[in-house]
Amino acid sequence: MIIIAVANQKGGAGKSTTAANLAAAFARMDHDVLVIDLDSYGRATDILHPRDRPVEWSADMLFEGMSPSELYVPSTEKGVYIIPSSPDLVEREHKLYDLPGRERKLRNALDNDPLMQEFDFIILDTPPHLGQMLTNAITAADRIIVPVADYCSMESTEYLRALIEVVESSDNTLRSKDYLLTKYNDRKNISQVVRSELSAIVGSSLLESTIPVNVRLEEAPLFNKSVFSIDDTCKGALAYKAVAEELLSRWS
Ligand SMILES: Nc1ncnc2c1ncn2[C@@H]1O[C@H](COP(=O)(O)OP(=O)(O)OP(=O)(O)O)[C@@H](O)[C@H]1O
Ligand SMILES: [Mg+2]
Repeated sequence: MIIIAVANQKGGAGKSTTAANLAAAFARMDHDVLVIDLDSYGRATDILHPRDRPVEWSADMLFEGMSPSELYVPSTEKGVYIIPSSPDLVEREHKLYDLPGRERKLRNALDNDPLMQEFDFIILDTPPHLGQMLTNAITAADRIIVPVADYCSMESTEYLRALIEVVESSDNTLRSKDYLLTKYNDRKNISQVVRSELSAIVGSSLLESTIPVNVRLEEAPLFNKSVFSIDDTCKGALAYKAVAEELLSRWS
């Protein structure tokens, strides 16, 4: 089982799109995947949590002592399960600041639940700010994927790298980082500038595969479906399939 945090504290970098559609890509390669939506805004939930099913338990209950296996439900995508978000995550994050061992709550919840071993991947979608949900996700993660959509989201990775260093300094679990260019258009000069500047900073951690701007990816939350269920031959689906393959070959 591999725990993956999808993180970049810049809003709109493509975190939720990546978390949900990468989960679907892995599932279509016959892996069992759990997505945990730690962002109160719930974009991964919009894509994957069946809209006709009321949210009974949300991810904030992981911090209240409930086990992940009590909380997850089948998603709109075969082979993918989800613990959805809810607005309660906002208050939960505030309450966490007063608790001892607060940054390890999620990791403990996942470690202490033997049923989590039945998943090949657990993907954590994170909110766009440096807070306790993001810190918990990084502390729990074996791997971190950093989507970068534009110059601003590239610059903001500096703060994320600093946070990862703080977590690593108190806990030496190896965390690989893979940077993914999203909304990439190689005909645009700015996309090429972002690619070359990011590559100069993170070197081989920058994935070869990129995600193009694709309207099907944008439609996924509206249709309550992964991009693969909308059209598994569109550019967005093929790109996330290529990312899944590249990650598996890097991590093997
Ligand atoms: N490759 C893409 N092509 C077109 N639209 C995209 C693409 N990736 C993401 N989007 C759209 O851009 C917006 C932001 O993407 P997303 O919600 O995945 O980013 P995020 O990093 O999770 O944002 P936030 O920090 O606000 O949670 C969404 O409307 C999404 O549908
Ligand atoms: Mg998001």
